[in-house]
Amino acid sequence: MIKYLGSKRRLVQAIAALASGCGATTAADLFTGTTRVAQELKRRGAFVTAVDTATYSEVLAQCYIGTDAASLDHAELAEVIAELNALPGRSGYFTEVFCERSRYLRPENGARVDAIRDAIEERYRTQHLYPVLLTSLLEAADRVDSTTGLQMAYLKKWAPRAWNPLLLRVPDLLAGPGRAIRGDARHAIASIGPVDFAYLDPPYNQHRYFTNYHVWETLIRWDAPDHYGIACKRADSRSPATRSEFNSRLTMAAALGEIVSNIEATVVVVSCNDESWLGRDELVEMCAARGHVELLEFDSKRYVGAQIGIHDLTGRKVGSVSHLRNLERLAVCGPRAEVLCALEALRRQTEPVAGAVGTTPGRSGSS
Ligand SMILES: C[S@@+](CC[C@H](N)C(=O)[O-])C[C@H]1O[C@@H](n2cnc3c(N)ncnc32)[C@H](O)[C@@H]1O
Repeated sequence: MIKYLGSKRRLVQAIAALASGCGATTAADLFTGTTRVAQELKRRGAFVTAVDTATYSEVLAQCYIGTDAASLDHAELAEVIAELNALPGRSGYFTEVFCERSRYLRPENGARVDAIRDAIEERYRTQHLYPVLLTSLLEAADRVDSTTGLQMAYLKKWAPRAWNPLLLRVPDLLAGPGRAIRGDARHAIASIGPVDFAYLDPPYNQHRYFTNYHVWETLIRWDAPDHYGIACKRADSRSPATRSEFNSRLTMAAALGEIVSNIEATVVVVSCNDESWLGRDELVEMCAARGHVELLEFDSKRYVGAQIGIHDLTGRKVGSVSHLRNLERLAVCGPRAEVLCALEALRRQTEPVAGAVGTTPGRSGSS
């Protein structure tokens, strides 16, 4: 799984327990990112639709959610991965921009990315293995990168993992069907159809994921874009077209509220944290439009960049971050009986969720 800001590694079992508790056989993960949550829902037997605006996220979803492991020839896949791993490096755009002008990967690994990515494009573009091979390459690159998990910058000194050779692995695919949609969640909900369970995990500040993960966008699009600045960000990172309504304090609440109200789902779970523009009361108020609301709160470690601290361009520590922990919130809403069943399943799950600090008394909205 790639390093990703806001990835719900610690909450995934809690979210999936809520879905199982309401007996979900169909589900939507509307800001799917790494697809971590969608994968767990699929693993538990639901038909999942995974939605995100990012190209790399679409490919991850086509691999883990859209591909049925039972329909693949696993020997063939292993052979193709071995063939790609055996390719010698050949320096190209990726090496020059992300390993020489900037330092996201070691140049020898960058040259392997260039050679493997070209081969995937030339040999597998129209084949069903395409998203699986791209995912394998993306995850291999992530394992040897030299960042804190964000691509706004790279580390001054090479991370120890960056010295490891890039090595593709066969992704851990799941059996069963599912669907990947690239697009704005606000528009996608019209084509998803009714689902038993929907999970909403929007961005919570002004930083675009498009820019935070510009290297992965380019690796997947393979479009050699113009770039700017020390971090070599894509020129279109500044375009209004890559901005999300969820990256603006002015538009975020209304956009999320529209989805919460309009999505055809029985139980809806909305993620937020205490650093979000959306306060606790606003979140509960928004969710009350669907009926009963229960709010769960989890004490959580902030992203790794916050743990490392603030440094100047020479790598000197110049400040400390104000706090290292935050509260992750899950608002569970829908008809009272289904919401209570979902919560009961969460309470019954054998492994307690790390950091759970409690449930606030439920409140009921208009329906
Ligand atoms: C907090 S992250 C989700 C993390 C995800 N739950 C995980 O565990 O990996 C928010 C995601 O929303 C996506 N996004 C931003 N604006 C969007 C929009 N308008 N519609 C759909 N996805 C959007 C971003 O690309 C990013 O992947």
